[in-house]
This record gives sequence, structure tokens and C-alpha cells, in this order.
Amino acid sequence: MISRLLFRRLTERHNAGTSVLGVRMRHTEDYHKNWEHKRHKHHVAATIVGAGAGVALWLGYNHQTGASSLPIEAEEDLEKYGAFRNGLPEYTLEDVSKHATMEDRIWVAYRRGVYDITDLIHKHPGGDKILMGAGGSVEPFWALYAVHKSAHVLEWFESYRIGNLAADDIGSSVRNMNDPYGNEPRRHIALKPSSKKPFNAEPPLSLLVDNLITPNGLFYVRNHLPVPEIDAANYELEICDEGAKKEKTLTLEDIKKYPKITITATIQCAGNRRSEMTKVKPVKGLSWGQAAIGNATWSGARLCDVLKDMGIEDGKTDALHVQFEGLDTDPANMPYGSSIPIEKALNPHGDVILAYEMNGEPIPRDHGYPLRVIVPGVVGARNVKWLGRIIVSKEESDAHWQQNDYKGFAPSVDWDTVDFKKSPAIQELPVISAICEPSEGEKVKVVNGKIKVKGKNWQAADVLESDGSRHPKAWGWTIWTAEVPVHGKESEVQLCAKAVDSQYNTQPENFENIWNLRGVLANAYHRVNVKKG
Ligand code: MTE
Repeated sequence: MISRLLFRRLTERHNAGTSVLGVRMRHTEDYHKNWEHKRHKHHVAATIVGAGAGVALWLGYNHQTGASSLPIEAEEDLEKYGAFRNGLPEYTLEDVSKHATMEDRIWVAYRRGVYDITDLIHKHPGGDKILMGAGGSVEPFWALYAVHKSAHVLEWFESYRIGNLAADDIGSSVRNMNDPYGNEPRRHIALKPSSKKPFNAEPPLSLLVDNLITPNGLFYVRNHLPVPEIDAANYELEICDEGAKKEKTLTLEDIKKYPKITITATIQCAGNRRSEMTKVKPVKGLSWGQAAIGNATWSGARLCDVLKDMGIEDGKTDALHVQFEGLDTDPANMPYGSSIPIEKALNPHGDVILAYEMNGEPIPRDHGYPLRVIVPGVVGARNVKWLGRIIVSKEESDAHWQQNDYKGFAPSVDWDTVDFKKSPAIQELPVISAICEPSEGEKVKVVNGKIKVKGKNWQAADVLESDGSRHPKAWGWTIWTAEVPVHGKESEVQLCAKAVDSQYNTQPENFENIWNLRGVLANAYHRVNVKKG
């Protein structure tokens, strides 16, 4: 994937602060087992127990407010939002329920507040889901998307406030509701969450370069929904060929009967390094550092072998896409979904696999247990976890994550002009690199004059470590080291990294010209300012 790395030193900087990280496992015995998943035959469901009507405003937020890029706030700091406000009219839940269509205007309740969000919907179209539970409480849905519980989002929501909810109706929609995140797996304490519900976290950057292969516990986690609990013994994968109108169901054992292929592949989130791009101009999305990326060995059956058994082969199908559905579902019971072009799926050298092992172990729950698709070289979003269904189709997946997310736009496109239909879904990712050590602000020892760079000379990295696969099947990352001479008198230097791949694609110098409103594909030079010690 990455063939060569070059460095250069830039100007003086003043930065400080190193951090030391202890690594130990967190105990999570107290996680409750109260979120039932029942969908298809796998007994996975996304029913919100006791949930009444409400509005799932999550799409709107994901797109418009950037709520998810905000820090996780303490519950008590958010108490003022949705609290009783003097001087406002009082409404019952029954009053709210009369406002469930655009004609009647859309009202919702949150804690003690009543809100008219009709204009919010007009301004921020978020698909059909936004209207899902109009005329009720948003609380059951926000329990699923805790990202809404940030001061920024609630402040914005509060501007649509029209009244107070009658005291008798407060909390009635969540009174008997279980926590949809009550049965999440235990996680390595070194993972730094950017959101807890759903769980999204990356490891400290410096730990990533300790091993060519990222240990399972340190592999970043990107979940859009609660982790489903799946019993491997009852697990079934449905495969549907829309053109031939054929369906098939495979158990995990059936899948394991196919030749077992092992590949080393890096998976990276489209939003990796978003926190750097947002400094140019704010973008919407989780504030990832440089570690929303990991490199693992994945073992499983080749997707093309499985499809071949259904008669789906190159030249024998007029399908254009292979869609994947997860067993994790949203409040409307819709699964996470995504798709890839059929050419990638059917190419035996494309190495798309239905993986049941990660680094030689059953795939951990957070990473898709018991089965996920690995699409090497392709953005994380298409590597669907907890795979429940494969659909071979003439159409792309119609899932939100294929149609209305994970797309790039020109820097001039803003939230008022964006048209998600105009950009293709991200598939292959551009060249990227990062300096994992030293970290920003670190004091670095100068040994034999090394670390200093003169002028604008570039230097190739000295040591490269990779899994040894050849292009075009080199799906894993390369770990590099370089001794950079530092001659000048300055006390601080800026190190920059850029990679060049075997087709001589390289990284842009800065973020200005690749800025996009979702903060995806952030692959400008990575810069780290260090002090000479
Ligand atoms: N698959 C399902 N079913 N649900 C998800 O939320 N997230 C996707 C992808 N597959 C996701 C999914 C995204 S956006 C990324 S970046 C990768 O999984 C992250 O994989 P990881 O959590 O194993 O690192």
C-alpha cells in the first residue's frame, strides 16, 4: 500500500506536553444484559423496550451539527436543557401527539420541554427516519444515540422550544426502557473514546507502531449502533441474488468449509485524522486523531468462492453491486448497510473475505463477531461487521451510510448546498501516512546530530517493515523509521511525513484544498512539532 516515506523539517514551533499511558484491562462485569437483539433468524432485534413515539433526530445531527465531534459531557452539565422554563405554555403528551405530520407541524418532547421542530426538518433534511416517531418523546431514541447529549446539540435543540410538558407525562416514554448499550463488550482501557454510546475509540498513536500487526484489544472501534449479541451456534448468513431471484442461507460451519484464506489488511475509517482537518474550518463528525486505523490478519472464506456456488461469477451476472447488511439495527429496525462494486467482490485477487478470525482468534464482538466482510484496500465503512445478509444487486446499498454519508465533497460545498447524490460513495482510500513517534510537543533527544533537517530537503525513510505482500495485493500498512538530521540552532522543529505509493500517488501538502464538510479523506502531510532535548 505504502511504498516509501519521506520527511522534511519545517520551521520553529513552541509546543509542550507529553503523556504517558498505562495499559491494563478494564473490568466490565457490571454491564447489564438487557438489550435484546432479534432480527432475521439470528434473534437480533432493535426493539426499544417501552419506547413510545419519538423522533430519531440522529441523521440530522450527524449531518448538521457535528455533535459527535464534541467532547463527552457530564450528565449534570446538561441538566438545564429540557428543564422547566417559566412563562411557556404547558402541553400534555396527547397535545404533542396531535403534531405528527408536516401539515400539523412536528412536535416532540424532551424531558420537561416541548419543541416544534418543523423548521429544523425543513432546514436539515435527514431522510425518513427523522419523522419516524414525530408527535412523541425523543428520549428513547437519544438513549440509542447518546451523541445528542452534548451542550452544543441541546443548545441548538432548545432554540426550537415552544412549551413545557405537563408534569404527569415527564419521563413516561422511558420509564421502563432498558439501556440499548447495556450489553456492550469489555474494552481495553487504552482505547480513548470519542463517543461512548455508540462506542467509538482509538488507541494512543505511539502504541500502534509497537507491532506491525495491531493487537485485537488495541484496534480502533467504529460502531454506529449498539453491538449485537449473536450466538454463533444459531448464526446464519443470508445471501440473495436479486437478478436470479435465488436465496441461500449459510451457517458459520458452512462458511468454514470453504478454503480458509488469511490476508493481512489495514482497515481505516474515512474520518481518520479529521481532528486535523477541522482546524482549517470546522467539519462534522467524530473527532478522530491519527489512530482510527489498524492492521490485522483476517481469516475466512473468499466471497467469490461463496458466490460462485450460487452461480454468480464474472461474466455470468448482470449485477453491479454487492450489498452487505449488518445485524446491528437502528431505531427503525434498519440494519447498518453498505455496498461495493461487483468487480471487487468477484475478483479472486481482490481478496474480499468473509472473515471469522482476526489475528488468529474468533473476531471479537466489537469487530464483527462471528462474521464480517473484509474488503481490503477499501474504506472501513464497507467492511461490514456482524454480517447478516449479502445482496447481489444492480443497485448500490440504499443504506444511509452508502447514500448519505462517507462521501467526499469539494471545499466550496457547505451544508446549505450539499447534495449527497452528487458524490460517489468512497471506496478505495487515498495514500496516507502518520508520524506515530515522537508525538506532538515531545522532547526528543538529538543523537549524533540526528533529527535535524536542513532547508527543504526530503529524506526517505530508512527502515520499512511490512507483511511482504506484493502490489496489487499489499493490503497492509508499512511501519517505517527514519533518522532525520537536525543541524540548526532552533530549539523546536516540525517533522512532516508524506507517503508515496507504487503508482507515485502522494499526499497533499495541506488540508485547505481537500477540506470537505464531513472531514473525510484527511490525508494531508502529517506534521509533528518537537523540542530538541
Ligand atoms: N459494520 C456494522 N455492521 N456496523 C457499523 O457501525 N462501522 C463501519 C465498519 N463496519 C460499522 C460496520 C465503519 S464506519 C468502520 S470505520 C469499520 O467498520 C470499523 O471497524 P472496526 O470497528 O472493526 O475497527
